[in-house]
Amino acid sequence: MPAGGFSSVPPAGVEFEAKITPIVIVSCVMAATGGLIFGYDIGVSGGVTAMPDFQKKFFPVVYHRTINPGTEGNYCKYDNQGLQLFTSSLYLAGLTATFFASYTTRALGRRLTMLIGGLFFIVGVVLNGAAQNLAMLIIGRILLGCGVGFANQAVPLFLSEIAPTRIRGGLNILFQLNVTIGILFANLVNYGTAKIKGGWGWRLSLGLAGIPALLLTSGALLVVDSPTSLIERGRLEQGKAVLRKIRGTDNIEPEFLELVEASRLAKQVKHPFRDLLQRRNRPQLVIAVALQIFQQCTGINAIMFYAPVLFDTLGFGNDAALYSAVITGAVNVLSTVVSIYSVDKVGRRVLLLEAGVQMFFSQVIIAIILGLKVKDHSDDLHKGFAILVVVMVCTFVSAFAWSWGPLGWLIPSETFPLETRSAGQSVTVCVNLLFTFIIAQAFLSMLCHFKFGIFLFFSGWVVVMSIFTLFLIPETKNVPIEEMAERVWKQHWFWRRFMDDEYDETAAAKGDFAEKNGHAKGYDPTSQL
Ligand code: BGC
Repeated sequence: MPAGGFSSVPPAGVEFEAKITPIVIVSCVMAATGGLIFGYDIGVSGGVTAMPDFQKKFFPVVYHRTINPGTEGNYCKYDNQGLQLFTSSLYLAGLTATFFASYTTRALGRRLTMLIGGLFFIVGVVLNGAAQNLAMLIIGRILLGCGVGFANQAVPLFLSEIAPTRIRGGLNILFQLNVTIGILFANLVNYGTAKIKGGWGWRLSLGLAGIPALLLTSGALLVVDSPTSLIERGRLEQGKAVLRKIRGTDNIEPEFLELVEASRLAKQVKHPFRDLLQRRNRPQLVIAVALQIFQQCTGINAIMFYAPVLFDTLGFGNDAALYSAVITGAVNVLSTVVSIYSVDKVGRRVLLLEAGVQMFFSQVIIAIILGLKVKDHSDDLHKGFAILVVVMVCTFVSAFAWSWGPLGWLIPSETFPLETRSAGQSVTVCVNLLFTFIIAQAFLSMLCHFKFGIFLFFSGWVVVMSIFTLFLIPETKNVPIEEMAERVWKQHWFWRRFMDDEYDETAAAKGDFAEKNGHAKGYDPTSQL
C-alpha cells in the first residue's frame, strides 16, 4: 500500500458462493489504477526535477547551479527547499486528506470517496500539466496528494469488500505491485519526454497521470457501492440487491446476514482508536508504526523520488541518469513479484533479515565508491564505477522490494485483530505518509550536508531495523488471525507480557465480538491481507 493496505472488517472466513462477475473485474481494474496513480506520482517528480527546461522555468537557482556547481559543489546542486516541496507536498496533503477520507468512507460510502479522489486527481493533473508558476505547480501537487488520501483509503476497502474471499489476498498484493509498475511507467515516460525539444516534455510527464485519474473517476461512476458500505449506512435492501448482483447468484442470504451482524458488532466498538491504545494491542501497534518508520528510513524513497537527480549529481549526464532510473524501476517491479511467491514459503522474518544484510552492504559499497571517487567539484565518475553504483542501487532496491516494501503493509494488515483493524490501518497509512514526507523534504539537503555519508546514515538505520526484526518481529506466516494472540504474542519472549488477561471494558467487548463472529477455525489468513 501499498500505501493503502487492506482494512476492511470482513465477515469471519466462511467461503460463500461467489462468481467472478463483471463488477468484480471492474473492481480489479480500479485496484490497478489506484496503485498506478500513486506509483506514477512517486516516480514522476524525480525525472521532471532533473529536466533542464523544468528547472529553468520553476527553479532558476537550481538550473544555474547544475550548469555551474560553483563553491557549493556537486552534492549541493539540488539542495533547494522549493524543489523538495514540489515532491513532498503531495505526501503532506495525503496525510491530511486521510483524516477526512476516513470520515467520508463511512458517512458517504466508498464509491463517493473514490469519486472525490478521482476528481482531485484530475484537477491536480490539469494544474500540473498547465503550470505557469511555482504556485500552480505546488497547488497541483497538493490536490494530487488529496486524491491519494481519498483513493488510498477507499479503493482498498472497497476492493476487499467486493472481492470474493479467495481473491482478496491477491488483490492486496496487486495494489502494491501496481505501485511499483506506476513508478516504472513514470520513469519510462520521463526518459521519453526528456528528449522532446521545445521545453514541454515535463508537461507531458505530469499530464499523463490524467489517464489513470480518468479511469479511476469513470470507474467510480460505473460501480455500485459495496454491500458493507450500504448496510453500514442503513440501506439494507439496497445492500442485499447489490450483493446479489456482484456475487452473480441468488444464494446470498448467509453472507448478507453475516454482513449485517458484522456491521452491528463493528458499531458496538465505540472508540476504535482508544481501543488501539489498550495494553493488549501494544505489540501490533508498535510493530506497525516501527515497520512504517523503518521502511522509510531504509532510504528507499531517496532512490524512488530522486534517482535521476542522484545519478545526475554523480555526473551521469541527463540521459544516463534517466535510463538508470528506468533500470532501478524495473528491478523494483520484478523483485516485488519475487516477494509474492516467497512470502508464504520462506516467511516474513527470513525476507526482512536477508534484506537487511543485502541493503546494508549495498549502501556501504555505494558510500565507499562515492567517498573515494566523487569529488565535490568535478564531474567524472569513471564508467566502471558508475556501473557499479547502478548495480549496487539495484541490489538495494531488489532487497527492499521483496521485504520491507510489501511486508510493511502486509504485517500490520494481518496482525491487528478485527475490531481495531481499520483504526490500525489508518495509523499505518498516516505514519507512512508522514515519514515519506520527511524523507522527500529532507533528502536533497541531507545529501548536500552528509555527502556520500548519507548512505552510511541509511545503512545505520538498516542495522537498527534488523536488530528490531531479530528480537521483536515474530513470524506470522500461516497463522490465522484469530489465533494470533495464542500462537504468536503469548509465545513471544517480550510481547507476552502485554497479553495478561486483565479485565477492561474493551476486552469484554472484544470477547463478545469474537464469540458472535464465530471466528471460524480453518480460516485463511491470506484472505485478510
Ligand atoms: C512504500 C513507498 C515506496 C514504494 C517503492 C512502498 O511500499 O510505502 O514509500 O515508494 O514501496 O516501491
